[in-house]
Amino acid sequence: MLEQLNEWNFKKEIAEIKNLFDWEKVYIKLLGKKGKINSFFAKIKEVPADQRKVFGQRLNEIKKEIEKLLEVKKLEIKKLEEKKFFDPTLPGKPYLKGSLHPLTYVIEEIVSIFSSIGFIRVSYPEVEWEYFSFEALNMPKGHPARDDFETFFIDFPQDKKYGRVVLSPHTSSGQNREMRRIKPPIRMINIAKTYRPNWDATHTPMFHQFEGLCIDKDINITHLKGTIDYFVKRFFGKNRTIRLRPAHFQFTEPSFEVDVSCGVCQGKGEIDGQKCKVCKSGWLELAGAGMVHPNVLKMGGIDPQKYSGWAFGFGPERCMMMREEMKIDDIRILYSGDIRFLEQF
Ligand code: PHE
Repeated sequence: MLEQLNEWNFKKEIAEIKNLFDWEKVYIKLLGKKGKINSFFAKIKEVPADQRKVFGQRLNEIKKEIEKLLEVKKLEIKKLEEKKFFDPTLPGKPYLKGSLHPLTYVIEEIVSIFSSIGFIRVSYPEVEWEYFSFEALNMPKGHPARDDFETFFIDFPQDKKYGRVVLSPHTSSGQNREMRRIKPPIRMINIAKTYRPNWDATHTPMFHQFEGLCIDKDINITHLKGTIDYFVKRFFGKNRTIRLRPAHFQFTEPSFEVDVSCGVCQGKGEIDGQKCKVCKSGWLELAGAGMVHPNVLKMGGIDPQKYSGWAFGFGPERCMMMREEMKIDDIRILYSGDIRFLEQF
């Protein structure tokens, strides 16, 4: 009997346990009421009297060892199971998803507003010949009006006719390109990136513009006003109005600045007797516009005796910032790449 006890490889049985289910079974098999340890105790009478003491001692030792080994094993298994524990009732982890840049949404919206009244979207080059940015817009070489568009020049060989290469300072360069592309009637909305060396709360060196150009027979200022008013009411809201102020651009005559009534003070210029902090006057400056200069039509191959047209140039960033619900007081946040800002869209 003592030999049987000594040969019993209980350590192997415990080592082979793989999970709590096995553990339970082995526990019962070894330490249970009808388990192996108890069955050895039951057989103690069969052990010769001179060996009984040793047998009893050995059996007690083995029992204690089994208890200890089983305890250790249980902890091991629990640790393992904790690691691979999967709770199918927990909510899933959300996927990290990207989104379009807020300005992309604004541009899409602008395109859809203008396309609903027959304007065709085009995008003309960002890296442009001097000719399209200036000469074709009635600003010959050396003309002081060019100074308004401080420009980034590109290190590239000059062309005899088209001059130097520049980062397009305004989308007006698309006017001549569109006149070359199609004959009137023209209804163009040219949206592109534009560049000027400015950096402050309302300017970034790269920004966007959208240029409206409408050329047909008998086009006049009322069409210009009506179109801008339509855009403003759809983009900013029905309660907003526009006004035109006289201005000067070489490529339009007459020329205007377009203002939109302030959404914060509803065009009153004051709130509770205090000057409106956003506009100070009830109006916000929005765009440049005017009737296309006859020289610009001529350079585009269009007879100014037969046709007339208007053009305007807006900044979509500016439009976005002037929306009532937008609380953006520094345009640079748009291009800072700050995920906390971008995540909100
Ligand atoms: N291109 C002008 C600017 O960038 C805006 C403008 C466009 C003015 C069309 C008149 C007509 O300031």
